[in-house]
Amino acid sequence: MKKIVILISGRGSNMEALLRADLPARISGVISNRPGAAGLATAAAAGIPTHTVDHQRYPSRDAFDAALAQTIDACGADLVVLAGFMRILGRQFVETYRGRLLNIHPSLLPAFPGLDTHQRAIAAGCRLAGATVHFVTPDLDSGPIVIQAAVPVLPDDDAGRLAARVLEQEHRIYPQAVRWFCEDRLALEADGRVRLAGAAWSAAACIAPPLENRPA
Ligand code: GRF
Repeated sequence: MKKIVILISGRGSNMEALLRADLPARISGVISNRPGAAGLATAAAAGIPTHTVDHQRYPSRDAFDAALAQTIDACGADLVVLAGFMRILGRQFVETYRGRLLNIHPSLLPAFPGLDTHQRAIAAGCRLAGATVHFVTPDLDSGPIVIQAAVPVLPDDDAGRLAARVLEQEHRIYPQAVRWFCEDRLALEADGRVRLAGAAWSAAACIAPPLENRPA
């Protein structure tokens, strides 16, 4: 059974979705870079070993990355899952975990990498927004895409309402991607392509219910 380490910085609702998903894997640790992140208490209550690697206590990004890697390796990790982890990881760290490092980003990448994705999607007049699970590469929010989900942007949306609609989809697609990895159906090929075996390719795209089917 594969071992998974989840990295968080805050609330941890994606982490909770992974815990609820009853994955064929063992969550061997949850690590936060912020002491007191709410998700740490949730994980501890679920009996999962928790750790804090506080980035403020390290003199450089490399020193932080090295301490983080040491903690991950001590937990044992076939897969490292970034779930609302709000630190940029250095090239060496990312290379070390190549092919076993996943992230979820709240936009339809490659649109809107970085922060404030929902506000930017509304300001750009997008009719669709969404979320993307991707393998992590050294460039921010730009690694090979595993699965995406799209939701409508509604006329009266603000960033909060849109974020909530997107988050619902995040909680569907992240457990799906991690499950594929645990079942050895998902891999990052040497040429940078995503291989997804035994699943219809269309399964890698989820469309939220069409507008006319949404509850009033
Ligand atoms: C999610 O929207 C995630 O995509 C983004 O930050 C948010 C974290 O939420 N990177 P949570 O901590 O998983 O609740």
